[in-house]
This record gives sequence, C-alpha cells and structure tokens, in this order.
Amino acid sequence: MKARVFSGIQPTGSPHIGNYLGALKNWARMQYDYESIYCIVDLHAITLYQDPQQLRRQIQELAGMLLAIGIDPAHSSLVVQSAIPAHAELAWMLTCVTPVGWLERMTQYKAKSAAQETIGDGILQYPVLMAADILLYDAKVVPVGDDQSQHVELTRDIAQRFNSLYGETFVMPETRLPAVGARIMGLDEPEKKMSKSAPGSGHAVGLLDSPEAIRKKILRATTDSHPTVDFDRLGPGVANLLTIFQAFTEWSDAQMRGHFSGMRYGDLKKQVADAVIAALEPIQQRYRQVMDETGYLARVLEEGAQRIAPIARTTVEKVKRAMGLYTPE
Ligand code: TYM
Repeated sequence: MKARVFSGIQPTGSPHIGNYLGALKNWARMQYDYESIYCIVDLHAITLYQDPQQLRRQIQELAGMLLAIGIDPAHSSLVVQSAIPAHAELAWMLTCVTPVGWLERMTQYKAKSAAQETIGDGILQYPVLMAADILLYDAKVVPVGDDQSQHVELTRDIAQRFNSLYGETFVMPETRLPAVGARIMGLDEPEKKMSKSAPGSGHAVGLLDSPEAIRKKILRATTDSHPTVDFDRLGPGVANLLTIFQAFTEWSDAQMRGHFSGMRYGDLKKQVADAVIAALEPIQQRYRQVMDETGYLARVLEEGAQRIAPIARTTVEKVKRAMGLYTPE
C-alpha cells in the first residue's frame, strides 16, 4: 500500500510563487508515488476575518489553481476542509491534550497576534486544527514550505502526547521540504518571507500575474550595492532571485554558478523574469480552461470528499473509543 501524503493551503489572498515553489510543486510531483490528499483549509482562513463572498470565490479559484498546477483528480483527492466535519471534531479532542504553552511558543502565533488588537482564540488554536488535518488521515509525509515546519513538529508532539495518554493511535508525520525554494523571500523586502497578505504590489509574484506585471516586479526587486553576482558574497535579494530561477528551472548548483557568476544584476533579473514567465504560462492557460468548464470543479471536490470522508470518520471513531467518549454500538 502507498504511504499517505497530506497538505493544505489557505484560500486567502492569491497564491504566489512562494506557495508554488515551497509546496505546490512538490504536491503535484508526489501524487504519483503516494496516496495524496490536498486540502483547501477554509476553517484556517477564518481565524482572521474574511469577507464571506470573497472567501467563497477564493475557495473556487484556489481549487482551479490547484488543478492548473497539476493536481490530478485521478491520483489525488482534492477537498475543502469544512466539507468534512471530522477536522473540527478531531481538533477539539486534540485541543484537550495540548498545553497552551506549546501554542504560545509558535512563531506564526507570535507574529499574527502582535499585529492584532484583540486576538481570536482561533489564532492560538490554529496549529491544533492543522494537527487534526494531518493526523485524521494517518499522513506519513507533509510537503510544506519552511514556515510550516514548526507546525508539523508540534503535530508530532501532540500525537506523541495523545499516544502516551491513550495508547498508540496516531502515525508520526514527517515534514517534506523542497531541495530549493523552501523559503522564498519578498522581492521588495528580501529579509521577509513572501506572503499573501503582505501589502505592496512589488512584494509577491502571483501565479496569475500577467507577463508584464511579473517582469516589472522582478526588474524592480531589491538587490544590493555590488554590481555583479558573486557567489561568495550573496546579499539576500540576489540570493532570492537565484533561488527563484533555480527552483523553476531545476538547474544544478554547478550550472547556476557557471552561468550567473559575474553577471550584472540587470541581466540576472531579465533572465529570472523570463524563466518565471515561461513556467507560469502553461499554468495560467490550464487555469483558464479549468475555470471555463462548468461543473467540473464542483465534481472534483465532491468526489474527493466522498473518497476520504470514510477515512476521517474511522479515525474519529478510533479516537473517541480511545478517550472513552460515547460511541453508540
Ligand atoms: P499557507 O496557505 O500559508 O501556504 C501554503 C503552502 O505554501 C508554503 N509557503 C511558502 N513556501 C516557500 N516560500 C514562501 N514564501 C511561502 N509562503 C507559503 C507554506 O509553507 C505552505 O506549505 N497552515 C498552512 C495550511 C495548512 C496545512 C495543514 C499545511 C493547514 N493544515 C496541514 C500542511 C498540513 C498554511 O497556512 O499554509
């Protein structure tokens, strides 16, 4: 039997090349070797206020984008989190075995709560829901970008604690990072992770950006005061551009050095822009096809949910029995 993979993405903002290179590209690649479940995590999205109409639209658009980047419904189950009530159910049971101190230590919690006047409880509980997502399906491997590694570690801690309290129940999941591109930085601020929510149009390259917009953003990317690429002294902006190029083209380190050493930043940027535009073009084309096909998305999401709901139900029953909760015969 194939090992199971689970991963998720929030339907907030528009997906960018950081999401693609950090996670989605691996999702598409791994689906042939694993039994794969990919989830649009709308319950996570509402930990921060979302306009309801916009959220509904973004769930559809993200589903279309996941098909466009190569998720194949014949090999993967593509689902929306809130369609399967077991996610929220298991999250509550895991909440009850999770010390608050573990949650307060999470880097993303600290960053998100610092930016809010009042902090919703959902922001603190966020990683417990994520643990429920993963543990519900006995996922062995979780392909994510670097910023989610801490949450997968926490999932292991929660699983271990549950197992030691109630007996062996959960499989220990492992993080899978891409070899290159686990942490793509903002083009305008290469010290900060590229993010869907960061303001500023020069920050992120969206997967649906036009070639002109992509070129403009990359040509304006922040570099440093050296004129040319020096692999022994790479500033964060230039390192980020090289990473983007390498992650899209899959060139080796030797190829990268041979080609870019001593190149002027202006030329580097032009070549990065060309590589990104070329890689996104077929994705954008498939996106338009998928979105034009009436009823297709709904069918894929429905089939995905039907396929995996029984697995989720079985886990919840197992956990209820382990904890002594009421389970009618
Ligand atoms: P989200 O929606 O923020 O991001 C989706 C995926 O994209 C990766 N990513 C990046 N990778 C490289 N560079 C970047 N700048 C960058 N920005 C984002 C993320 O690491 C992620 O893999 N909590 C998760 C969603 C989630 C989940 C799960 C993931 C919910 N349940 C269970 C795995 C398993 C999140 O907010 O991802």
